[in-house]
Amino acid sequence: MAGRIPHPFIDELLNRVDIVDLINSRIPLKKAGKEYQACCPFHDEKTPSFTVSREKQFYHCFGCGAHGTAIGFLMEYDHMNFVETVEELAARQGLEVPREDGDRPTGPDPRPLYDTLEQVTHFYQQQLRHHPRASSAVEYLKRRGLSGEIAAEFGIGFAPPEWDSLIQQLGRNAEQLSRLRLTGMISEREPQSCYDRFRDRIMFPIRDHRGRTIGFGGRIMGDGKPKYLNSPETPLFHKGRQLYGLYEAQKAVRELKRLLVVEGYMDVVALAQFDIRYAVATLGTATTPEHMERLFRTVPEVVFCFDGDQAGRKAGWKALETAMSHMRDGREVRFLFLPEGEDPDSLVRKEESSRFQQRITEAVPLSSFLFERLATEVDMASLAGRARLAELARPLLAKLPKGLLRQMMFNRLGEMVGVDQAGADTGQAPPLTYRKQRAPLRAFLGTMPPVRRAIALLVTNPHFATAENLPSGWEKLTLPGIPLLQELLEILQNQPNLTTASLLERWREREEGKHLGKLAATLLPLPIEDQVQEFHDTLQALARQTLGARTEALLEKAAGGGLDAGEKELLSQLLARKAPR
Ligand code: UTP
Ligand code: MN
Repeated sequence: MAGRIPHPFIDELLNRVDIVDLINSRIPLKKAGKEYQACCPFHDEKTPSFTVSREKQFYHCFGCGAHGTAIGFLMEYDHMNFVETVEELAARQGLEVPREDGDRPTGPDPRPLYDTLEQVTHFYQQQLRHHPRASSAVEYLKRRGLSGEIAAEFGIGFAPPEWDSLIQQLGRNAEQLSRLRLTGMISEREPQSCYDRFRDRIMFPIRDHRGRTIGFGGRIMGDGKPKYLNSPETPLFHKGRQLYGLYEAQKAVRELKRLLVVEGYMDVVALAQFDIRYAVATLGTATTPEHMERLFRTVPEVVFCFDGDQAGRKAGWKALETAMSHMRDGREVRFLFLPEGEDPDSLVRKEESSRFQQRITEAVPLSSFLFERLATEVDMASLAGRARLAELARPLLAKLPKGLLRQMMFNRLGEMVGVDQAGADTGQAPPLTYRKQRAPLRAFLGTMPPVRRAIALLVTNPHFATAENLPSGWEKLTLPGIPLLQELLEILQNQPNLTTASLLERWREREEGKHLGKLAATLLPLPIEDQVQEFHDTLQALARQTLGARTEALLEKAAGGGLDAGEKELLSQLLARKAPR
């Protein structure tokens, strides 16, 4: 194993590399004040929210939240792992990457490990036939309806119940033992006392794209726990990247067009037996971005299959969230939710294989799943509910890469919300690009007349009503919207826990209701920081406007010579107050 790269070297490297130069060599940066900006390379946008700080040697995208160091950037942008990235950066600086274990600068040859796992696979298969206790395993597989052919095709075997069958067979010397250890096949209570990790289990070899065994899943035959035991992370086996059954699917189908992602080993095997040869399973983990890339590198169409219960829906939603940023045009994702209590294994045995195929054909497109699920979370009959829908959908849709699907999804959102602009794809994570960027936020708010601005800020941030030292004196101003602003403030001060949605709901029947909804839809995704100041300043401006109007009226009256003593006093106060401004 190559030794770790020492931390001081990483520090040194980060000292030498300038993140601005590095990023600029890949995407042209523009100077903006102290920092540098560009359109974010990690999500789709038209206005730059990707910011690089030379001072902090850090990048941050206000739109999608991506952030990191120079190393992090290269890893993301060039799809390299940490070590590759460090080596690449070091080479450019003419530095050699030191390792903490100086004696072994390069990784070990992995080939013996593959050999070992090949032998283990073979051993388990043999045991299924010949071990004196194998009959219980054979019995179990029969009971589950597995045919001999399919068991052979998937290399299914049996780990004997003894503590050291594998060690006896394949761990006879130190070298062999070390390989069993490195491949995760043995466990240790303490050095010198090791035992077989898998005992008395049905063994499913997990194969890589070349068909080499890289790990195992082992099912217990009774009710014990854990039901499935998986290989640990090893130099060959990384759970978050692997798809069980992919090799077998590629071998069985000449040209794969579609993959069905299921949850379990048994599901993959059972479906294959019933001639649905394109099922793969993640290994007890949620679908990762690595899975998504691997799936789409293999086929253009992916159908995720989940239980119809609450947990299955939740897992489906998670898969949807992961899938969004991978949805380039030409790729398709659909969701198949099975009847409650069923999994593919049980269902395909219960009904005709063609019926199951039909379920796959009829699986719900990603767009329908997304909108239907969000629509159940809000009250679509109310304005506030629809505003909330827009709020929930936008960050998700913003993850979609540029293209037709994205456009269509935003259009559909617009139709559903029925508020102008609410669904408009502005090309970025819609007003999200205003996030935390003071200048554009100010500019945006600045286009609104002050009364409207104050209302918009208040509706989207109801807690502002209870902020300290809010300016007063604006209440008597005779401008449209002032009574509404006053009313909103009063309600919120009495009921400080009201949300935007509930506020909007109160105004549903009133003339100003539509107005409030629109204001909320435009401002909702903006961040709260700075806005309280903005709100404060706006009220102050209105108060000043009030005083200005008062002063002018008094001055006019004074010109006619008609001020009484009180008015004279007030005017001089007003003038004194205005002067410093
Ligand atoms: P399930 O519990 O749904 O099992 O786990 P299953 O696939 O239907 O298995 P059978 O039909 O009871 O044999 C789904 C998957 O989650 C992982 C395994 O990959 C399993 O196939 N899992 C489950 C584990 O890794 N460990 C466990 O203890 C349970
Ligand atoms: Mn099952």
